[in-house]
Amino acid sequence: MFLWLVVSSLVSEALALNNGLALTPPMGWLSWERFRCITDCQKYPQECISENLIKRTADIMISEGYLNAGYNYVGIDDCWLEKTRGPDGRMVPDRERFPSGMKALSDYIHERGLKFGMYQDYGNFTCAGYPGVLGNEKLDIDTFVEWEIDYLKLDGCYIQPTDMDAGYPQFGKMLNETGRPILYSCSWPAYQEDAKILPDYAAIAEHCNLWRNWDDIEDSWASMTKIMNWFGDNQDRLAEHAGPGHWNDPDMLLIGNFGLTVDQARVQMAVWSILAAPLLMSVDLATIKPEFKEILLNRDIIAIDQDVLGKQGLRIWKKTDAGPRKGLEIWKRELSDGSLAMAFVSQRDDGIPYAANFTFEEMQLANQAFDVQDLYKDESDKLLQANQEFEVRINPSGVKFYKFIPKN
Ligand SMILES: *[C@@H]1O[C@H](CO)[C@@H](O)[C@H](O)[C@H]1NC(C)=O
Ligand SMILES: *[C@@H]1O[C@H](CO)[C@@H](O)[C@H](O)[C@H]1NC(C)=O
Ligand SMILES: *[C@@H]1O[C@H](CO)[C@@H](O)[C@H](O)[C@H]1NC(C)=O
Repeated sequence: MFLWLVVSSLVSEALALNNGLALTPPMGWLSWERFRCITDCQKYPQECISENLIKRTADIMISEGYLNAGYNYVGIDDCWLEKTRGPDGRMVPDRERFPSGMKALSDYIHERGLKFGMYQDYGNFTCAGYPGVLGNEKLDIDTFVEWEIDYLKLDGCYIQPTDMDAGYPQFGKMLNETGRPILYSCSWPAYQEDAKILPDYAAIAEHCNLWRNWDDIEDSWASMTKIMNWFGDNQDRLAEHAGPGHWNDPDMLLIGNFGLTVDQARVQMAVWSILAAPLLMSVDLATIKPEFKEILLNRDIIAIDQDVLGKQGLRIWKKTDAGPRKGLEIWKRELSDGSLAMAFVSQRDDGIPYAANFTFEEMQLANQAFDVQDLYKDESDKLLQANQEFEVRINPSGVKFYKFIPKN
């Protein structure tokens, strides 16, 4: 056992990207899901992709405690560029929306103790049609280094998915050669999965700190559960590739926007933390309602996501057919202190909170007693005796999220 541990840790060290970053899943804020490609600042001054939006977000991340809770990256997604490069071939940030330029914005972010994330695309164009990096890789990387960015999301529009196996590592090598540690987010497998090409996740984990596996998330329970179900259905070929420095990415948190109820938002926070997913908020922090803010700032759940063991959890039980436990599932993650995070999710959309019992076998627990703590703090702590059935009562499209601590 000991030898096996030593060997496997050597192997995973040798094969994983070694830039010292993302030892736990990245946390922060990213513009896309909420603000997309809103560029009309006359009409939508609070929402357009602009230095004002980024500065406002950075300020609130400090003043409202998001940075203290661990959300330290603030990132611009697509739609920050001018449609054409400058006469020197360089990327030009939109002159009206980023009048101070990217270095000044970067300084603003760094002065506040945050880190700066940016977006580009490996193809000829970004997904929204702005100039991509293809043919200008070196120049663009040098420009990003001059702007002192800390995180780069490299999208995969306007490039063949078959070219990505060579392209993404090549770009990563050029990033590494700059000597600046830049967290590298790859969209490589998402485009391959979409094209029905089986991604080489071992290679991806060797070159990227995180990678978007699949569909873009949309602001709805339907989209969120579709992604969650896909991660459960494909966990046998995904979960093993996650670990310190390299993570699967089911996409941004919808929490606080228009599409999820409070219960549904709690499901996303719980399941994303079981998945050791990056926690990237995409919400207007100036107007978020307190009940959603509270979910994003739940320290106990953030601690599950950020657990240093870095082991992605699994959907271990699921009931799809009829019967009293229809639509329920159990998601479980092993933690560094020997305890377990256990999310009991309901995808029922009928009626009321239903109660259900689960056996130790169904929960895949060792036959011993556990202290059980409710991570959303609705219930007081309880003791679960060995082999006793565990009763949970879950709201429709909701979750009960517990920490099971083995009792000595
Ligand atoms: C990118 O643009 C160049 C120049 O127009 C073209 O030759 C090349 O085929 C394009 N690449 C892709 C992947 O579309
Ligand atoms: C570049 O890669 C080497 C070898 O994996 C690593 O030791 C180094 O920290 C990396 N540097 C940066 C800036 O990513
Ligand atoms: C769960 O089991 C307990 C103990 O046997 C029982 O009292 C309770 O009614 C059960 N709950 C459900 C929902 O079946």
